Amino acid sequence: MRILVTGGAGFIGSHLVRRLLSSSQHTVVNLDALRYSANLANLATIEGHPQYTFVQGDICDQHVVSSVLQVHQVEGVINCAAETHVDRSILDPGSFARTDVVGTGVLLEEARRAGVQRFLQVSTDEVYGSVETGSSTEEDQLAPRSPYSASKAGGDLLVLSYWTTYRFPVMVTRGSNTYGPNQYPEKFIPLFVTNAIDDQPLPLYGDGRQRRDWLAVQDYCAAIAHVLFHGEPGQVYNVGGGNERENLVVAQQMLDYLEKPKSLIRFVQDRPGHDRRYAMDCSKLRRIGWQPSIPFEQGLHDTVEWYRLNTSWWRPIKSGEFREYYKQLYGKRLKEGVTG
Ligand code: TYD
Repeated sequence: MRILVTGGAGFIGSHLVRRLLSSSQHTVVNLDALRYSANLANLATIEGHPQYTFVQGDICDQHVVSSVLQVHQVEGVINCAAETHVDRSILDPGSFARTDVVGTGVLLEEARRAGVQRFLQVSTDEVYGSVETGSSTEEDQLAPRSPYSASKAGGDLLVLSYWTTYRFPVMVTRGSNTYGPNQYPEKFIPLFVTNAIDDQPLPLYGDGRQRRDWLAVQDYCAAIAHVLFHGEPGQVYNVGGGNERENLVVAQQMLDYLEKPKSLIRFVQDRPGHDRRYAMDCSKLRRIGWQPSIPFEQGLHDTVEWYRLNTSWWRPIKSGEFREYYKQLYGKRLKEGVTG
């Protein structure tokens, strides 16, 4: 299949591009705006691959999107392009509405006009909101609570409306918290690992008892590919790792792997509107033949090792724009502690 992956220089996108190219059956075009969290170093191993093309461009740019779809005669689209970090969405909500809602709308409409055969929207369990007990099924009402999750929910609804309205063959995957190599170090796991390597404090929000279900990025990409080829048009598929853990427990585990003291954990003022728990029922995806394969302890250990061995990947990131962001988000918090 001729596949367009948007956001292919980002975390999930770059793993997906590499995975799709590992089978000689596909050609891949990667359309990426190369904003702050994108990194072409994530794709170094496939540079020059005969079945791969990179185009720098924004999914909000109708002209670029329609030209890429036509020039490369794209048959399948996987939309990984998104603003993804909750804390940034609290600081700058507008960029989330722009990329995750408007950009998704532009891509969707151009794909429909170009006669694309399969369109897969990569989404998140956060659209269901905080789930205190039980687990979300695909039929549950969406109840997003942050500008990030609200923007993703808007994108999902737009995508699904194209099935109802035009019978345009769309699918949505809602992944749980994804982790692994190449994740920008603003997210919980890579932030804590890289801080711990440098003996810096780990800013744990609130009481640290929030719960997330952790999914290895390799497993998520396998699920996305499975849904692209075997999913039913118009359907949503929850993708979880089956690894629900408290943040505090995960933080302690990472420190154990690095042989660093637990005293690095610093309880700090909570994130506003912090969702307490996410949990999904993933039986629908199991019924079409996919389940996760990477046990959390192994995946987390391998991820910690990757960051320990690849300081040349993340040190330049943490010394650039990231510094200002870190100061803005954590400066006061770390000075004041949890009572601040
Ligand atoms: P994150 O990686 O931001 O993912 P999400 O909020 O989308 O689930 O955070 C995962 C969990 O870790 C979440 O409960 C918030 C918490 N967290 C901290 O306690 N401190 C931090 O500095 C960050 C980034 C996250």
